[in-house]
Amino acid sequence: MYKAIICFFLFLNVLACGDKPDQSLTYQTYCAGCHGKNLEGTTSGSALIRPEYKSQSANDSISQAISEGVAGTTMIAWGKLLKADEINGLTEYILQAQDQPLSTSVSDTPSTLVTENYQLLVEPVVASGLSTPWGIEFITADRILISEKPGSLRWIINGNLDPDTIKGLPETHLMSSTGGFMDIALDPVYDQNGWIYLAYSHTNGDMKDRDALALTKVVRGRIVGMTWTDQQTLFEVPDSLMVVRGNRWGCRLLFDDEGYLYFTIGDMAQAMDSQDPAKATGKVFRIHPDGSIPEDNPFLDRRGALGAVYTLGNRNVQGLAIHPSTREIWSTDHGPKGGDEINILRKGLNYGWPVITYGVDYTDEIISTQTHQEGMVQPVWYWTPSIGVCAAEFCSSPLFPLWENDLLVGSLVFQELHRLVVNDDQVQHTELLIKGLGRIRDLKFSPDGSLYLVMNDPDRILRITPQSILHPL
Ligand code: HEC
Repeated sequence: MYKAIICFFLFLNVLACGDKPDQSLTYQTYCAGCHGKNLEGTTSGSALIRPEYKSQSANDSISQAISEGVAGTTMIAWGKLLKADEINGLTEYILQAQDQPLSTSVSDTPSTLVTENYQLLVEPVVASGLSTPWGIEFITADRILISEKPGSLRWIINGNLDPDTIKGLPETHLMSSTGGFMDIALDPVYDQNGWIYLAYSHTNGDMKDRDALALTKVVRGRIVGMTWTDQQTLFEVPDSLMVVRGNRWGCRLLFDDEGYLYFTIGDMAQAMDSQDPAKATGKVFRIHPDGSIPEDNPFLDRRGALGAVYTLGNRNVQGLAIHPSTREIWSTDHGPKGGDEINILRKGLNYGWPVITYGVDYTDEIISTQTHQEGMVQPVWYWTPSIGVCAAEFCSSPLFPLWENDLLVGSLVFQELHRLVVNDDQVQHTELLIKGLGRIRDLKFSPDGSLYLVMNDPDRILRITPQSILHPL
């Protein structure tokens, strides 16, 4: 009983009431500045959550690095400043963090999260009934369209998921684990013309055939009542350019200020074809909203090239976002192990996959020993180990003035939401905002300024708003 009361008072003092309440405090005091509040790493120090720290022998290498420092870096020998039991405590703290989701999980009830600038309120908008939601679009703050990977579109109206799906949609080839309906986009003048753009895995063959030739297709249509109508094909390739049993279909959609539509197709495991403008895999494309090819597209004059190609050497672009002030297009490219990238997409450039990469393949085979080559663009940022980057969005929401122009990036396998403070082409600071709530497939700011996350495993929609400001700039 006394212990409970003491715990309660310690708790009031904002001290964790565990056996060793000060490890976390020591870490936050001395280490978080460089290695991140949640051990996620910053531009000044590496991430301390890493696969090799799950091994038995990690204990020694961690405590040695802490007490003796890392020569040639800003990691000093903390053995001179901290006591032996403090170093042991920090080692234990780092080891324990390897398995734990860093933030509390969100149930069906709202919860709060403490981040550098804001205390955030995280609320489930739709907690059940969705089937692998993929893309989100806001007609208004209260009328939201969702695509679902198994091949449906449906409405969320005033926070309620419509149990009925839209009828008359194209059939999609679901025979690969990653294929199906992908992103949706609204026409820049949707209010006037009603066009909705949709990307999905398509075959001209048998939908049930695992070995059918297939590739990503982009169409537009209108939803009248609850029916998809007026469909027009904007981009598809002949069977000769399709792939059997491919993976990595893309496909994110984005309109720029001039009304061009960009879309992405992943390498479909045909890595080298990413370098060939005559092949449709491993590229970013640019077309007019009606599917016609812009006259100044970069490969139009190249014999055999696909006129819609805008950039080459993109492994699997899963996020596209326009910088609020420079108006340039930034992309996230889902890399192999260790090769997730952020790039700024510029017309006609080659982003290097698979000739240059920071990644190794999932089998740990080295793909390329090169990270640089002339004529190939270096990423603005990359993650080692990779986090499974997916959607990205810049913040220009009046609700989050302290995040103005910051890039938010969601991840699938690591279940993380990162905030990157960027300046020109440089990432100046990173913060891990969320971890362990599920795979983040898409994210977007609502017209009301709140941030929506489209989650998989579990499938749900979360809404994030600031509850209070913790650290004004
Ligand atoms: C001034 C920034 C800074 C601070 C503060 C700092 N570190 Fe480091 N730490 C580094 C750098 C730089 C490295 C070398 C690896 C890298 O390049 O990121 C490193 C390496 C490490 C490593 C070895 C990982 C590796 O990459 O081999 C561990 C473990 C570590 N730090 C733990 C800590 C702990 C615990 C504290 C707090 C007592 C701490 N660090 C404080 C910058 C810092």
